[in-house]
Amino acid sequence: MHRKLLVASILLMLLGGYLIFFRSDSKVAAPPPNAASGKTGSIKLGGDETGKYTIDNQNSVYFIVNKQRGLDSSFIPKNLAAIGGNQLRSDAANAMSQLITAANVDNINFKIISGYRSYNDQAGVYGAYVKKDGVAKADTYSARPGHSEHQLGLATDLGTGTCDLQTCFGDTAGGKWLLKNSAKYGFIVRYQKGKENLTGYQYEPWHIRYLGIGLATKVHKSGLTLEQFFGLSPAISY
Ligand code: DAL
Ligand code: ZN
Repeated sequence: MHRKLLVASILLMLLGGYLIFFRSDSKVAAPPPNAASGKTGSIKLGGDETGKYTIDNQNSVYFIVNKQRGLDSSFIPKNLAAIGGNQLRSDAANAMSQLITAANVDNINFKIISGYRSYNDQAGVYGAYVKKDGVAKADTYSARPGHSEHQLGLATDLGTGTCDLQTCFGDTAGGKWLLKNSAKYGFIVRYQKGKENLTGYQYEPWHIRYLGIGLATKVHKSGLTLEQFFGLSPAISY
């Protein structure tokens, strides 16, 4: 008799635990990885699903940098990891190696052309473009120092050897694969065709930005720029 009571009590406890833990958890959004203090962008995602992402803290994986929103010149991501002769924040690096492996299965061999760039690296890159093309033209394709997603350690330029860093990359198998599949690995093609007047940059089918699978999938499906998605103004000038 005692034994039966004990078994029944254990079963009841397990059921209670299941109801409390799993049922309530399904309603609560998991805290975003890397979320740090700072302002939180709040968006209505339809239905009763509301997403909260920290877009104003440089350490957050959701930080939005553009011509209107800068990074400190001293900002260096804390958890840089080596990948393909470059560096990315470790969560982005893990996702990138999965993306590259998946693309390989589809016979696409991506090479990382550029990952993390320090403030000074970006100053060098931008300065060289200004010398070559002048400020106005350089501003259409290169971020000024303190304004690049590469300084965040969350952006990667990928190439396959065909049309690398040229808009025609978008018409190659590699470019098409990225547009279709990046979100599955947590990345978005950040500067898309036809969105130049919203992003402030020319079409860059090779530049993908890490947001984590959850947010990347939502942004990708929305068809919006990252700024539009979070209700920010287009960032077309400094
Ligand atoms: N090419 C992109 C806009 C950058 O320099 O970050
Ligand atoms: Zn880039």
